[in-house]
Amino acid sequence: WGPYGHAIVADIAQERLTPQAQKAVTALLALENHQTLDQVASWPDTIGHVPKKKGGLPETLKWHYVDIDVSHPAYDQARDCPDHACVVEKLPEETKILADTHASAQDRLVALKWVVHLMGDIHQPLHAAERNKDMGGNAIRLTYFGDNANGHMNLHSLWDEGVMDHEADLHVGPFYSIDAARAKKEADRLGALITPDETKYWVQDLDGGDVYNATVDWADESHSLARSVAYGALPANKGADIGKDYTALTWPIIELRLEQAGVRLAAVLNTALNGG
Ligand code: ADE
Ligand code: ZN
Ligand code: ZN
Repeated sequence: WGPYGHAIVADIAQERLTPQAQKAVTALLALENHQTLDQVASWPDTIGHVPKKKGGLPETLKWHYVDIDVSHPAYDQARDCPDHACVVEKLPEETKILADTHASAQDRLVALKWVVHLMGDIHQPLHAAERNKDMGGNAIRLTYFGDNANGHMNLHSLWDEGVMDHEADLHVGPFYSIDAARAKKEADRLGALITPDETKYWVQDLDGGDVYNATVDWADESHSLARSVAYGALPANKGADIGKDYTALTWPIIELRLEQAGVRLAAVLNTALNGG
């Protein structure tokens, strides 16, 4: 997702923290004078493209997604993530560090930022799929309501930000800057749509206490939605403009994935931080 998607997921989760998790989150965020999860939700997107000698972490660029070819029905670690440097492996790893009371507060804060961010990304359908080596749709250039964003519009960015920006009237500024109040308003709108039954059903994967198996399920859900909707609903005519029809099919899915990511993020944080 773009910065609004990540902030919305963080805001939905923040409202659903137990008092104990809330306290632990607040203490970790205070190390960097932050107050709320949305303030750190996009940090991993700011360090990947910075060279190592300038303090960046380029090796983390691959942590945000997993390329599962659309010819496959589901995630296979040996095939899709042999080096363990993908979202499906990193999300549980960072959750473990966050939950480790023997880890330093600094390490746990960094882990918190990754968990908040990767819980968002794993719910973006195109972060768990590729077709013809298209990098999750990054290689599929298109126009959206006639706009090609100076040649930068592509299928992936449409799902990360384009459809959301269009439907919720959001505008990303320079350096990932957003209007935090606007994100909160959208999070509150989506949060109000979530029923208790949905909440219960969406966190069922976590019942056994195994974050890893749940993470695989969430990636498989994304992969499935990429096949059926993100790729499946594309017009057969390659040059066709993407607009009203595609938006009507994809925006409800994007709303659902942001809601699920927020609810599941809260559940994971509540479990990881239950011991302070
Ligand atoms: N780069 C390569 N594959 C990608 C994907 N599925 N999502 C985001 N970035 C990618
Ligand atoms: Zn993306
Ligand atoms: Zn990301």
